Amino acid sequence: MSEPSGAITGASILLDEVTKQYPGQIKPAVGGLTLEIPAGSIVMLVGPSGCGKTTTLKMINRLIEPTDGKIVIDGEDVTQMDGDTLRRRIGYVIQAGGLFPHMTVAANIAIVPKMLGWDKAKISARVDELLELVSLDPAVYRDRYPKELSGGQQQRVGVARALAADPPVLLMDEPFGAVDPITRQRLQDELLNIQAEVQKTIVMVTHDFDEAVKLGDWIAVFDEGAQLVQYDSPERILANPANDFVENFIGSGAGLKQLTLTRVNEVELVDAVTATPGELASAVLSRLQGAGQQLAVVLDSRKRPARRLSRRQLSRMQVIDDTVDDSMPVVSDQSTLNDALDTMLVASSETAVVTGRRDVFRGLINVQTIMEAIAQANSSASADSEAPVGLNSGAIPAISVENAMAGEADGESAQHPVEEPR
Ligand SMILES: Nc1ncnc2c1ncn2[C@@H]1O[C@H](COP(=O)(O)OP(=O)(O)O)[C@@H](O)[C@H]1O
Ligand SMILES: [Mg+2]
Repeated sequence: MSEPSGAITGASILLDEVTKQYPGQIKPAVGGLTLEIPAGSIVMLVGPSGCGKTTTLKMINRLIEPTDGKIVIDGEDVTQMDGDTLRRRIGYVIQAGGLFPHMTVAANIAIVPKMLGWDKAKISARVDELLELVSLDPAVYRDRYPKELSGGQQQRVGVARALAADPPVLLMDEPFGAVDPITRQRLQDELLNIQAEVQKTIVMVTHDFDEAVKLGDWIAVFDEGAQLVQYDSPERILANPANDFVENFIGSGAGLKQLTLTRVNEVELVDAVTATPGELASAVLSRLQGAGQQLAVVLDSRKRPARRLSRRQLSRMQVIDDTVDDSMPVVSDQSTLNDALDTMLVASSETAVVTGRRDVFRGLINVQTIMEAIAQANSSASADSEAPVGLNSGAIPAISVENAMAGEADGESAQHPVEEPR
């Protein structure tokens, strides 16, 4: 596994009743944790500060030795294996990349390949390949020092270094915690792209639940002592938080987070009665009454929505004019249902006007449609509710609904192959 092969798959990881009792502490930092991590998936560890996330992560590569229990990687018990040998098979990424300041970018990335005795040409080629992978131009960056890089660039180099010897497993401890939100979003997107190529098993600690939802095939929610409160797809955790603890942890916006998984163009829009300036208001009113609707949408000559008119407004009007209402709730069909609901709430309106390309009118979305989408997502989430939790079940994780949906929207489905745990 020290050779970059092009067709790489991650390894499955099983934490079997793993405990870490630090000397002098009353309670174990990790108390009998059993967790099954399917090969090739991204598993996010979330939970309150001090609940044992970092300790759990570091026990996987034995930077911290477990007090009790077994760690099995791809069927092999690695609990007694030489720690250094194990760590060469596991990439490790920490905040700000954890780069050595007095070594160039290339030298930082080359650390493990050097230890593995690769020849110079092979190392050099690998460094360039990895810099390309993390979107840094090798010619520009390979000879720079970490301090000559931005935080986001350092983080990229950290990821490249972790991937250098092509390990099947990548451990990441709050890797994007130290960068600004825009850089963080970019790094997250890049990680998903990289993962689509390399398909490692990635275990990542985060304190950011949105990050967990975005990146995770599976999310493990920990309480104190690394007690596993819930382990499931982001979709199903959002739809069915296991208890108040999870609900509180994912935050008051939890119900709405479900809505960020669906886009307006994925739900059925309501047809609307439309009108054009110059038309007689009475004609529009009778169409509206005939359709049993309350609001007509006035479109301009390019079919862009200009304003909405109620039956009452129409009844007081002779001819439709070309007034444009800037406060009309309008959403793009690329918006999420969450955006649509926000727009309706801000406008105190039960419907929003939906536009497509070039702002052309497409229809209406209403609160009812959004509620139905939530109900549907909830029921399909609970329909196959077997969790991948290693807790004796050996259950097979279903394909993450969240990723299936995200895939439709932006072609990401291939980036999250969820394999069955061994
Ligand atoms: N080296 C250590 N010695 C003693 N206690 C530790 C040590 N490292 C962590 N702990 C304790 O173990 C618990 C879990 O810590 P940690 O795994 O770092 O939590 P998290 O990453 O979830 O914030 C905490 O109570 C912490 O204080
Ligand atoms: Mg930590």
